[in-house]
Amino acid sequence: MKLTVVGGGSTYTPELVDGFARLRDTLPIEELVLVDPATDRLELVGGLARRIFARQGHGGQVVTTTDLDAGVEGADAVLLQLRVGGQAARQQDETWPLECGCVGQETTGAGGLAKALRTVPVVLDIAERVRRTNPDAWIIDFTNPVGIVTRALLNAGHKAVGLCNVAIGLQRKFAALLGVAPADVHLDHVGLNHLTWETGVRVGGPEGEDVLPKLLGEHGDTIAADLRLPRALLDRLGVVPSYYLRYYYAHDEVVRELRTKPSRAEEVAAMERELLRMYGDPALDEKPELLAKRGGAYYSEAAVDLAAALLSGAGSPYQVVNAYNRGTLSFLPDDAVIEVQAAVGAQSGPVPLPVAAVDPLYAGLMANVTAYEDLALDAALRGGRERVFRALLAHPLIGQYEYADALTDQLIAHNREHLAWA
Ligand code: G6P
Ligand code: MN
Repeated sequence: MKLTVVGGGSTYTPELVDGFARLRDTLPIEELVLVDPATDRLELVGGLARRIFARQGHGGQVVTTTDLDAGVEGADAVLLQLRVGGQAARQQDETWPLECGCVGQETTGAGGLAKALRTVPVVLDIAERVRRTNPDAWIIDFTNPVGIVTRALLNAGHKAVGLCNVAIGLQRKFAALLGVAPADVHLDHVGLNHLTWETGVRVGGPEGEDVLPKLLGEHGDTIAADLRLPRALLDRLGVVPSYYLRYYYAHDEVVRELRTKPSRAEEVAAMERELLRMYGDPALDEKPELLAKRGGAYYSEAAVDLAAALLSGAGSPYQVVNAYNRGTLSFLPDDAVIEVQAAVGAQSGPVPLPVAAVDPLYAGLMANVTAYEDLALDAALRGGRERVFRALLAHPLIGQYEYADALTDQLIAHNREHLAWA
């Protein structure tokens, strides 16, 4: 089996490689190709990847290349994990929206739109080249904003699935609180990428007993503290929102906080410098502790599980993925990309499981953000100031024309070098 990682020079890659090494029985990789235009990072990360494989007795070969076409040739799956403009562009996304009193975040709000506009054309170009060289390969997208990027890929007819680690993180967390194995915890996970709620927590599979009320009763304080939301709010909702919902439910509080501290991009950039320094140490042959401070926990487990299910029918039968709605959520268009549990098969790809009726409290926000994502994709594909404005005006965290206009100007001014039309 050959697997190619585009953006393989990412500091996250050792997390993935560690998962590939540990879970080699589920996903037997013979060749792992890391593709990245940044040769310096690629060599540091590639060197560590080889040492991780060697230490864990993995016989697979690690190849590094800057040549995308050569890298994807013959690959069974291609993982996309790139960041157009790097942490410097993220730093901008997290900063200028704050001037309008709006959240500055890499995937939510105006910053997320900026990321979508920079990213969608690049990812579509890469996917096109993958299809030309290798039409059978599955494309697994971790590149944010995953909902919009996956929708762009699917609309262009690619064999693509979107993946995020929020659900697997909660599954692991809840399993530990309940004292059961992670594989025994099935989440009733519903929403859009980075806009999800756990409406049930079942032990034993999709038909298992829903222990969410008990979990909230016994561990509500711990769960609320992790989300940085009041326990009383969780009790009133009776569901567990993802931590990205804090940008909505506590928007103004978050803006106040963000204004007084360094951006996440600055923190991450400092961590990345340190990580790359560590990766250059020939004695290091495992993923360093420091990597756990990044947001990617369990990302490798989720990726291995998904790739295994798509390629050989191994892996968990149900997985949380980003895929076309196709009637799963009756209040959204069929071509909306939703994040739900799906049965994942080698022939069929991901097929969303049926979802019980969704409370209007959540359905309304999902519908609103779906409309925003639709307009965001239009702006990313066709460009133009007015399309950017329409997406921002539609966003539930923006909504007012004065803010939408000001943010449009800021977005374009800060991203000109990445936007072909600006
Ligand atoms: C989580 C999200 C990812 C996001 C990451 C950011 O893993 O699911 O989509 O990219 O957090 O983590 P970072 O360490 O870069 O802030
Ligand atoms: Mn994510």
